[in-house]
Amino acid sequence: MEDEFGKALRQTAQLLERELEAFLPLNEGLEKQLYKAMRYAVLSGGKRLRAFLVIQAADLFLVPRPHAIRVAVALECVHSYSLIHDDLPCMDDDDLRRGIPTVHKKFNEATAILAGDALQSLAFEILSDPKTHSSAEVRASLVAKLARAIGAKGMVGGQTMDIYANAKVIDIVTITRLQQLKTGALIAFACEAGAILGHASPAKTNALKAFAHDLGLAFQITDDILDKEGTTREMGKVTGKDEAAGKITFVSLLGVEEAKIHASMLAEQAVSHLEIFGPKADLLRDAAAFTIKRRK
Ligand code: IPE
Ligand code: IPE
Ligand code: MG
Ligand code: MG
Ligand code: MG
Repeated sequence: MEDEFGKALRQTAQLLERELEAFLPLNEGLEKQLYKAMRYAVLSGGKRLRAFLVIQAADLFLVPRPHAIRVAVALECVHSYSLIHDDLPCMDDDDLRRGIPTVHKKFNEATAILAGDALQSLAFEILSDPKTHSSAEVRASLVAKLARAIGAKGMVGGQTMDIYANAKVIDIVTITRLQQLKTGALIAFACEAGAILGHASPAKTNALKAFAHDLGLAFQITDDILDKEGTTREMGKVTGKDEAAGKITFVSLLGVEEAKIHASMLAEQAVSHLEIFGPKADLLRDAAAFTIKRRK
């Protein structure tokens, strides 16, 4: 039976599929392949957890839904871009994503790189549009914070560490930083964006940031656990690849059982930061539980 959280996540996913579709019209002409690849990547399902976090965080501050949805769309564009590039032969070299061939397999490498680039640009175009928020200050804050979250001091920095990490140089402190950057930073932005849109107080903004900080790490540790324990069928991506590629993860450093304990502890800690919101934050609490329980 589907619970309230399951229903809310499914409804977010359905909503996002429709909204994203509207932002990605098909084009004629020589650039048609680019548009096709962008749509192929973005409209291929996915849990839409980052979108869910934006919308739930924004709901805490009664942000009008259309505003939150535009930010959620921008985040899913960035997330899709990160997956397209993460799957490239020069990165993780993956052939399957969300149960279908990766973008470079379906199209070609050049188109995959360009589709990722264009999705990143589209995200900033959406955020900077007055339709996202009437206040230029709010829009500038969203743009600046997203830029930081996904740049050299955020996701891309973390992806770089991921490439250069090896067992000799990496310890728990370093892997924690790596994962916070490569995955945590975007998840943290998702939650903080709700606070920015809602002009939240510093105390509430900090509570959400603390929640997201622990959640992001728990999310990536669980991804690493699922790479070891999940099935390709359930995950829609080939599992067992981290170990085969000699990737350094919490699982490689701690073993699967310790990694699970660590992820549970982080999820619990994440929830503890939400007290200030009372029962209004119950779906965010459920999101933390889902993050470590999920099978895909
Ligand atoms: C996969 O993210 C990449 C990581 C940061 C671990 P998700 O597990 O959220 O992927 P989708 O969007 O549901 O496919
Ligand atoms: C991906 O981490 C993180 C980003 C895309 C930024 P992984 O490489 O573990 O993600 P999957 O397992 O391919 O989804
Ligand atoms: Mg990777
Ligand atoms: Mg990967
Ligand atoms: Mg992974």
